[in-house]
Amino acid sequence: MPTITCIDDLKTVYKRRVPRMFFDYTESGSWTEQTFRDNCSDFEKLRLRQRVAVDMTGRSTGSEMIGQPVTMPVALAPVGLIGMQHADGEIKAAQAAEEFGVPFTLSTMSINSIEEVAEATREPFWFQLYTMKDQDFMNRLIERTRAAQCSALVITLDLQILGQRHKDIKNGLSAPPKLTPRTVANLSTKIAWGMEMLQAKRRNFGNIVGHVEGVTDTSALGAWTAEQFDPALDWNKVSKLMEQWGGKVILKGILDVEDAKMAAKLGADAIIVSNHGGRQLDGALSSIRMLRPILDAVGSDIEVHLDGGIRSGQDVLKAIAMGAKGTYVGRSFVYGLGAMGKAGVQKSLQVIQKELDVSMALCGATQIDALSERNLLIPDDFEGRWQ
Ligand code: GLV
Repeated sequence: MPTITCIDDLKTVYKRRVPRMFFDYTESGSWTEQTFRDNCSDFEKLRLRQRVAVDMTGRSTGSEMIGQPVTMPVALAPVGLIGMQHADGEIKAAQAAEEFGVPFTLSTMSINSIEEVAEATREPFWFQLYTMKDQDFMNRLIERTRAAQCSALVITLDLQILGQRHKDIKNGLSAPPKLTPRTVANLSTKIAWGMEMLQAKRRNFGNIVGHVEGVTDTSALGAWTAEQFDPALDWNKVSKLMEQWGGKVILKGILDVEDAKMAAKLGADAIIVSNHGGRQLDGALSSIRMLRPILDAVGSDIEVHLDGGIRSGQDVLKAIAMGAKGTYVGRSFVYGLGAMGKAGVQKSLQVIQKELDVSMALCGATQIDALSERNLLIPDDFEGRWQ
């Protein structure tokens, strides 16, 4: 095992260890992948302002997200199929997050079910909800989330229909993998992954299989979303869902000022400025570029979080200094999970926290609350001039 010093090292090990189909699922954006790339490259355009001779003792990366104390303002984003990246992946990631002191968000399209994750953890986690046409299934899913004592519902708004990711179609992505000659050839090179997967509690979509009737294909994400997701989701339905849940709500997938204003008007606890990791509308602006306009519009009314492109503690620092109250990592922790299971998720969080801590100090800040745009160098044309 090479010495791991950064998130990219975890990605290298991950790529070797996990079947191609699941690596590709993580490492894809939709269509040309322009937005997927911009999410990262736009972070690089922001620079940090070095300050010196500041007392650096008593530092902390601790903060709060939706009133919940966090070891650092970084939650684990909801990611589908992570139990295919590593056996019992959702359980392991949730446990790593709990031990580290950051929120874990379980995806509707997870492998381990809500109940399995609740049983394997002590602290409440967050649940990400996709809205489906089947109202009975939705009602039961919300009840199951309540029974598991999840402390926030993260409602995804930017995936009523699926943006096309070419590789997933070419690979015939499914959980468990369908055994075509090409898949078998690749799986035969992933022995350690396969041995662990044989012991896994589950290899299908745990929140769905056994909970719906009359569905033709529960194994393929693409087929399931096309058949089941509710394309009629609108603000009225979002408002009803919020009422039905009654607890804390985070609205995910906001990339426009008008939508941010609607989310604030509905009284959500937070929004996530997000383009779904560049996996939905290819050609949309990066999350970090849209952060400032959204903060200007609603920053005093609602907590604003961001996901998309965070691969380091410096990226977290930039988003927080710009005004986000919290950030999310998706791919960054999945690389760790696929590479080394729970220890890999812990490693990814440690790497990010250390980078955040040291970089904050070198910017002259010892507390998260002290960060502001004064710590950043933002190019004049960062947000761009769009007609
Ligand atoms: C689903 O949430 C996906 O982005 O694949």
